Amino acid sequence: MSYAIDKDLDNNEPKLTDHSYDGIQEYDNPMPGWWVWLFVATVLYSGVYWLYFETGVADRSIFDDYRKHQDQVMQAKFGELGDLSLDAATLVRYSSDPKEAKWLAVGQSNYVTNCASCHGIDGGGGIGPNLTDDHWKSVRRIEDIASVIKNGANNGAMPAWGTRFNHPNILVLTSAYIASLRGSTPSNPKAPEGNVIGPWTAAEPAAPVAPTQPAN
Ligand code: HEC
Repeated sequence: MSYAIDKDLDNNEPKLTDHSYDGIQEYDNPMPGWWVWLFVATVLYSGVYWLYFETGVADRSIFDDYRKHQDQVMQAKFGELGDLSLDAATLVRYSSDPKEAKWLAVGQSNYVTNCASCHGIDGGGGIGPNLTDDHWKSVRRIEDIASVIKNGANNGAMPAWGTRFNHPNILVLTSAYIASLRGSTPSNPKAPEGNVIGPWTAAEPAAPVAPTQPAN
């Protein structure tokens, strides 16, 4: 390893490369080996980095990381919010009121961490159903979202989350986030499953909503 220009051993002159352009010649002075290997290592590392962070796997990007930290801050502020109740009015409010968006982000963060692997990062579905369309398998009213999350569905194909979230408000805010996904446009939507249900409403429906045929 040397920083000095290579010398020709016989006459102690700097070594020249054997080409000459318009009489201009170059010293033969390659980058030191350690530098070249460091460069090769950074190129290889960039491949690993790209595969890890940039291939769309949930919960790895800097955005997910940022959201998670913000979520921790918001959870620390849960005192401000009190204990949310799991009723339709609360769910409709947190899913749709722009003033509550910072709280809805807590539900989103929980979704990205625990649910996106089966339901898609944008709710488009995968192992689990599409959560953005009007078709639902076990949900008729907005409160049912929370029951499915809490108790699971289809013998554990949809796992029961029970009290696994570290604060009861997280169940409410995650349910509100699921409700908010309805009507959004995922990049790779799974075909609809279940029955078409009426829009989310805070009021008790007067009569059960009859399943209707999907419009095509
Ligand atoms: C292991 C995969 C998996 C994970 C993780 C998962 N789900 Fe599910 N989920 C499913 C499957 C499968 C179904 C459909 C069950 C059925 O056939 O009724 C489902 C159904 C649902 C439904 C009802 C959909 C409907 O059409 O009625 C909701 C809401 C839901 N999941 C929300 C969540 C939330 C929120 C989380 C994260 C806290 C989550 N899921 C995590 C697999 C999963």
